[in-house]
Amino acid sequence: MKLEEKNTGLISHSKNLISSNFILSSADAWNVDKEKRFNLEKLNASFRQSVPILDFLDWKITSVERGFTETVLPLNVQSSNQHITHQAALMLLSADYTGGLALASLFHLAPVVGFWEVEDEYAVYMWGAKSSIKWRHPSTSDLVCRSYIPDSSREILVKRMNASKKVVFTAKVEMFNGSKLVADCDFTYWAQDIHSLRKKALDPDKIEILYEHKLKTTAKLIAGFRALEQQESNSRIDDPYASIIAGRHGITLAQRFKKNTPQVQDMVVARSRHLDQAILNFIKDKEEFNVVNIGSGYDDRFIRIDLSKGNIYDLDLPTMLKDREKIFNISENKNVKLVAIDLITQSIEEVLLEKNLGFNKDLPTFFIWEGGSMYFGPKEIDKIFTSFSNLLNENNLLWFDYVSSDIILGNTGIKEIELFMTSMRIMGEAFINGFKDINLFAEKYNLKVLNNEASAKVLNLKDPHFNYYSFCILSKN
Ligand SMILES: C[S@@+](CC[C@H](N)C(=O)[O-])C[C@H]1O[C@@H](n2cnc3c(N)ncnc32)[C@H](O)[C@@H]1O
Repeated sequence: MKLEEKNTGLISHSKNLISSNFILSSADAWNVDKEKRFNLEKLNASFRQSVPILDFLDWKITSVERGFTETVLPLNVQSSNQHITHQAALMLLSADYTGGLALASLFHLAPVVGFWEVEDEYAVYMWGAKSSIKWRHPSTSDLVCRSYIPDSSREILVKRMNASKKVVFTAKVEMFNGSKLVADCDFTYWAQDIHSLRKKALDPDKIEILYEHKLKTTAKLIAGFRALEQQESNSRIDDPYASIIAGRHGITLAQRFKKNTPQVQDMVVARSRHLDQAILNFIKDKEEFNVVNIGSGYDDRFIRIDLSKGNIYDLDLPTMLKDREKIFNISENKNVKLVAIDLITQSIEEVLLEKNLGFNKDLPTFFIWEGGSMYFGPKEIDKIFTSFSNLLNENNLLWFDYVSSDIILGNTGIKEIELFMTSMRIMGEAFINGFKDINLFAEKYNLKVLNNEASAKVLNLKDPHFNYYSFCILSKN
């Protein structure tokens, strides 16, 4: 099976070609959507995994139809207060997911980030904007929440979403004990697809605040793993700033991932060690050099390793660079330059050579692409390696990490790896690229592999997981 065949492609390919009205009224369309997105057993499991408090409360989705959802918050020890009525704020929590699901059910086959796996380039983001609730009677029995999106609103909502416009909608949620209405609530959501969010993502002043938060998530996750390792008494890396850089956000994220896939921490350690060593080898005996760090995220290597003789170019999306500027004392570090790039639309060479950066391509240069190659499709990978092919010469090296294509194709048969991949897809950060034979791939770009080591070898680990993640150093052929 080719990599592309993994994509279902159902959503993005059909959404503008078929009338929204037809989709909304077609029982067949709904059956397809219901089977894919609303298998209640799977959906409940996904909600409980994404929002552990729902698991604790034994909250359940009991029915979803197009534009309608019913859920139940049981009256139990966890959900009740000292009067054995539902804790008021938990009713709002239940209402939040009930109304959100009713709205999400209108967007045919759309994976909402956080709850459904994002399999191709299309995804929808949905966040709560505001709400108000009336508690009418004490809730002293199982709380059944129902939300129904009026027929008159549906088509316009779907049309806006299909046209990649922001959808803002207030759903009504009614809450019952049996047939008795005990509370009702207005919950306002905003939802947007990835295409419209991306359009503004390059401008740090216009980017949607929650999308900005999400963009930083994978970089925070990696910083979080470095922080967890640093906190261990026998830490295998020396990264004293990792905890404050990752913050509670990065550390909590890493703790969550660690539950299903404890191996990721070792992989991050292996990659840090391999890359640190490769840079140290490279700069040894050099009077001046460049380090180009592509997708630098929250990497703090330039304060951990003495790179004072180097010119450092940190390339990333503008919003991430804004954070780097806040965290690190960039203005004090005259040898560090922050360079905005969108790897999807711009080439590395054009950014390095054409902007007025003073990049001296005749100096020995060490290119780093750490934690990036998994996230880009074939078109972007080709564009990025074409740049490497043009930029590398006999004095330059490229270090990058990659996963095996077996991981992307789901061929490993290893439970922890599958769980990790599912979590990344649910987070909207699917791994979509892996390599089968790195030598063959490098040859295509006139590059040669000087070093290619699986993480297993770097840390001398026997566990088979570590053979699927490797580090590689390339030079010009
Ligand atoms: C997984 S993080 C790795 C960060 C860092 N290299 C590390 O290992 O800690 C991926 C990085 O790639 C950046 N990135 C993602 N998409 C990008 C794009 N289209 N253009 C430039 N950078 C991008 C992210 O902002 C993020 O900093």
